[in-house]
Amino acid sequence: MSSTSVIGLQWGDEAKGKIVDLLTPQHDVVVRYLGGNNAGHTVKFDGATYKLSLLPAGILHDTVVSVIATGVVINPKAFIEELARISDQRGEVPVERLKISDRSHIVFPYHMAQEAAFEKARKGDAIGTTMRGIGLCYRDKAGRTHAIRMCDLVRPNVLKQRLEEILPQKNAAIAAIDPDFVPFKVDEIYEEYSVYADQLRPYVTDTTAFLHKAVASGKRLLFEGAQGCLLDIDHGTFPYVTSSNSSGCGIHSGSGVSERVISKMIGVVKAYTTRVGGGPFPTELDNEIGQHIRKVGNEYGTVTGRPRRCGWFDAVAAGYGARISGIDVLAVMLVDVLSDLDELKICEAYEINGERTTDFPAFIDDLAAAKPIYRTLPGWKENICGVRKKADLPANAMKYVETISALIGYPVEIISIGPGREETILD
Ligand code: IMO
Ligand code: MG
Repeated sequence: MSSTSVIGLQWGDEAKGKIVDLLTPQHDVVVRYLGGNNAGHTVKFDGATYKLSLLPAGILHDTVVSVIATGVVINPKAFIEELARISDQRGEVPVERLKISDRSHIVFPYHMAQEAAFEKARKGDAIGTTMRGIGLCYRDKAGRTHAIRMCDLVRPNVLKQRLEEILPQKNAAIAAIDPDFVPFKVDEIYEEYSVYADQLRPYVTDTTAFLHKAVASGKRLLFEGAQGCLLDIDHGTFPYVTSSNSSGCGIHSGSGVSERVISKMIGVVKAYTTRVGGGPFPTELDNEIGQHIRKVGNEYGTVTGRPRRCGWFDAVAAGYGARISGIDVLAVMLVDVLSDLDELKICEAYEINGERTTDFPAFIDDLAAAKPIYRTLPGWKENICGVRKKADLPANAMKYVETISALIGYPVEIISIGPGREETILD
């Protein structure tokens, strides 16, 4: 058993894509199992930047099969555009190297329209979603009656029939909350999506059966997480979360493969914290230091371009993410971004209504009221991007990483000090 999983322990954007890319050569199959084109994974190598949203980072390697499993919600237009972009950059992806689950759910334009109407109705209290229709597609999946899956999309008669049943109800629901809404037409969507179906059909298969056979024949799987633990629908900062299980809990349900095949679960954290969208963020730095981190770390959303909110490392939040997911080791990313600061703070506990706690609260108002209790550490001034061994890191940088490890309670296996593959410390 040498399968691995890569899970973000914070609010997403932990640089998971870089870790997946680094680990891919030691695996045979890379599996994306949740979310949709709300995710944005950037991988840099050989002077080129690759932006991935729906495709697993494994797509950049011609030695592995990339699988988009059952739990993913697919916007076919976005998928086809992304595949065309990667094919332009890296050459055509052969059909044998890319598999899409026939059980995955499809995102339609009415999901985006409904999401926009719902978000608008929340006024100042919007969830701050990526507006990609992801939450509404998962809502239809859980509701069952209005969902269309990949196995429906690729069957023209089924697609037509489903749209005829669903669309009038969707139109009526959206018109009820948005008076300016222009109703969708069955024929238009059917025509557009039939073209997508023809393009996707060669890749569509029973990925669950494929993965079971891969496991049985000793293939090494790499599960590529999207989003992060604190955005998990069940365990995250509800309602400011995404609509799927983005902690380690989602691996089994999203892929159909038991997490018992995984011998190493890697929890990925940034050396600080970021968040995009709404919701409480106890260690947020709404000041010059926060702006400095945003600038140096280029903390702008890959998908929406929104500036990310930045703050100190929160060991209460990340520790909670690590425990939910059941990780084995940590990867600490973007440590280089913190070079040059005089001192650094790590949140080791919260004070909520006068009480000190290291538990992560369920009630969103308690999290909003949480005052971080900080441990202050000395910074370092050296440029660390050229360092390749732990022993060569400035003592204060190593102490900072070790403090994160001690507070979360897991060993650090990987330290990243730049976006490039080579800017990584393993020993
Ligand atoms: P990666 O894989 C960071 C956030 C959105 C919003 C909330 C709900 O790049 O780490 P949604 O569109 O999913 O309904 O939005 O979740 N969000 C992410 N934040 N990284 C992501 O993915 C995210 N995917 C969703 O900003 O707050
Ligand atoms: Mg991202």
